[in-house]
Amino acid sequence: MTNAVSLTALEKVYQGSATPALDRVSLNVPVGTIYGLLGPNGAGKTTTIGICTTRVRATGGEAVVAGYSVREHPTAVRRIIGVAAQALTLDRSCTVRENIYFHCRYFGIGRHAARERTDELLERFRIADRASAMPMALSGGLAQRVQLARAIAHRPDVLFLDEPTAGLDPQSRLALWDLVRSLKADGITVVLTTHYMEEADQLCDRLAIIDHGRLLAEGTPAQLKSEAGGAAAIDLALSGERAEARNALRAIEGVQEIQDTERGLRILVTPERSGVPRVVAAVAPFGLTDLRVVDPSLETVFIALTGRDLRE
Ligand SMILES: Nc1ncnc2c1ncn2[C@@H]1O[C@H](COP(=O)(O)OP(=O)(O)O)[C@@H](O)[C@H]1O
Ligand SMILES: [Mg+2]
Repeated sequence: MTNAVSLTALEKVYQGSATPALDRVSLNVPVGTIYGLLGPNGAGKTTTIGICTTRVRATGGEAVVAGYSVREHPTAVRRIIGVAAQALTLDRSCTVRENIYFHCRYFGIGRHAARERTDELLERFRIADRASAMPMALSGGLAQRVQLARAIAHRPDVLFLDEPTAGLDPQSRLALWDLVRSLKADGITVVLTTHYMEEADQLCDRLAIIDHGRLLAEGTPAQLKSEAGGAAAIDLALSGERAEARNALRAIEGVQEIQDTERGLRILVTPERSGVPRVVAAVAPFGLTDLRVVDPSLETVFIALTGRDLRE
């Protein structure tokens, strides 16, 4: 088995909905990778995770997880995966320790082994000092760590994380990235969703960019930045009237987006760099004092693919 997850023309139309939440998405997650589903709100990320984890039923296509079809062998899939949902799903009436321990027991681990495994995870995720705390008393970062510890307690092959760092402060986010990397080092394949571009860029080995239920691009972050769209950003420092400069820029072919900055304007052009001379000529009459070409980022890739910004 070379793919931990394999989706073929996966489709989901929710009842009563006119447009599909997932529109024939096909992709493969190689074993041992950290794989990111990147897209804005409503893209279909949670729906994809829902189908892979047998919580949502696809209306077309196929999802195979760890070699098992989710439609034909949902029980086998559930045994071999770990899940940390977008919302906190810790049992509020149990302590941190009990949340992990009962999870182990639920997956058939004996009392003694479950106690050992729980202690090991409390140490490893640096939550031992909060073992007796109730989930509601934890900060967002800590609660997410407990949820992650619980999700891998039964040693799954494939781990699904839905927006694992949404709403976390930068320090907790970096700590969670390190944990996810350590899980990969253990041999766990990690599939996560995110709408943070730095997270997709820095944490994920491969990415699927999705929007409106459609797969727009797939590959390593480096591939996506060099191939898909190939937009570049140009920062312009202007001493003159910005509104007029905007109008002049809007008329140029290949200019995708114009944003205000402190010193002037930032524009996104496709294809990369070839638009620079036309841009310079267009804004020269408006007091161009400086110009900087910014290399393609996942942000410029997304804008090139959709014409929209991915930020919240
Ligand atoms: N249970 C549901 N019933 C109807 N529509 C849904 C349901 N869940 C999600 N959707 C719709 O499906 C689309 C994809 O949603 P979702 O998978 O949650 O996207 P994401 O996780 O990327 O934000 C959205 O348009 C959303 O409104
Ligand atoms: Mg979601």
